[in-house]
Amino acid sequence: MINLKQSQHEYWSNSLTYTLAATGAAVGLGNIWKFPYIMGENGGGAFVLVYLACVVFIGIPMMMSEVMIGRRGRSNPGTSVKRLAQESKVSSRWQAVGWLGALTGYLILSFYIVIAGWALAYVFKALSGDFISQDAAGIEALFVEHLKRPMQLIYWSAAILTATVIVVAKGVQRGLERTIKYAMPLMIILLVITALYSGFSGDFVTTLEFMFKPDFSKLTINSVVIALGHSFFTLSLASGIMLAYGSYMPQDISIYKTSLYIAAADTIVALLAGLAIFPIVFSNNLAPSAGPGLIFQTLPIAFGQMPGGVLFGTLFFVMLVIAAFTSTIALLESSVAYLVEHWSLSRWQASTLSGLVLWFMSLATVFSLSGAPWTQLEINGHSYHIFSILDYTASNIMLPIGGLLLAIFVGWRVTSAISQAELKCTPLIYRIWLMSMKWLAPIAISILFLQLIGVVSL
Ligand code: PFF
Repeated sequence: MINLKQSQHEYWSNSLTYTLAATGAAVGLGNIWKFPYIMGENGGGAFVLVYLACVVFIGIPMMMSEVMIGRRGRSNPGTSVKRLAQESKVSSRWQAVGWLGALTGYLILSFYIVIAGWALAYVFKALSGDFISQDAAGIEALFVEHLKRPMQLIYWSAAILTATVIVVAKGVQRGLERTIKYAMPLMIILLVITALYSGFSGDFVTTLEFMFKPDFSKLTINSVVIALGHSFFTLSLASGIMLAYGSYMPQDISIYKTSLYIAAADTIVALLAGLAIFPIVFSNNLAPSAGPGLIFQTLPIAFGQMPGGVLFGTLFFVMLVIAAFTSTIALLESSVAYLVEHWSLSRWQASTLSGLVLWFMSLATVFSLSGAPWTQLEINGHSYHIFSILDYTASNIMLPIGGLLLAIFVGWRVTSAISQAELKCTPLIYRIWLMSMKWLAPIAISILFLQLIGVVSL
């Protein structure tokens, strides 16, 4: 018998607002800051092809599974998985998968707000002309100077966090939905403007060749592992987000179609970010494979030298902040849903409490970036700072384990009556989805995980 549950929160108004909100959650620092540099480091075009395969065969099926669990369970990530386990008559202990996802998202948010705050600080640096006529050494000094001042990092990340808390506190429709309705179109417009400007004023031909001409000689097995890991990060999988957003999805919306649109939009944004960044990187003879510093260290050199660089640089960082913000609100939602449902708090109380704890946690990242000695830990004779440990643990250990368990849960434990009723797709798509959850995703994620933690080296 079908026993549909009700969410204690509001629902998305319609298919478009859900799709925008979930696209906003997916599009973030991962698309604009991370994708271009990992593409740069892994040979460009060939990497893009592998990445697309990961999105289509693992990312989209995984997203469908998470949204399905959320919509069926109509609760915070942990409770939704528990309800589905009960409905499928398997051990309630599977709920650990949901809690793990929510915890992973929360940990990621603790450093994500610091990087988002950093982007916000760079809006003002770009606007006040700090990059003008600076050479690489000057920009590097600016970068180091910024990180060395913990108070600055605290102000900027607190600004992002406060805005996040306010939006989430206002609820699904008046907070999340209303913000996203304006933020997403604005972000896309800014991205298109920056890509066009960069394309016309920079080296567009070299960029096209770099991004779309596959050079398989540069592709290693490690690049495949990176592509799979990134498809999880960028689609916001295994982090509680899609479970939480799915729980507010009206029953008549197609999970398959919206997942397809979200993944397509996320990929287009990542490619557009490449088109906005690489033409000016190439025309200024800078390196496309500059690693994580590509946006904060390489691009400002170009902004400082190109005509209209103040305006262009400012718009670019505004766009980055908006992209990050539509993800921070999604990352906070699971914890707020949990506090409202289990502690009977109001959304304002839940959001403020969750925000305060996060602020406290974010200090670990702030002080690591500024090089405080207490943030350096000695592990097996190597010195690591807390930020890199947090990032490594959340992105390389918790995300893949969460994804693996989730795939096994829906592939092997959830009854097909439930998944067919929720997914309502054609028999062929359903078969592909099931194959991915039963076999492809668990095997690929296991290989990714063993490679990432260094147990196997392919
Ligand atoms: N998908 C967003 C990004 O690419 O920046 C935000 C995000 C959510 C990142 C969840 C990582 C994550 F686990």
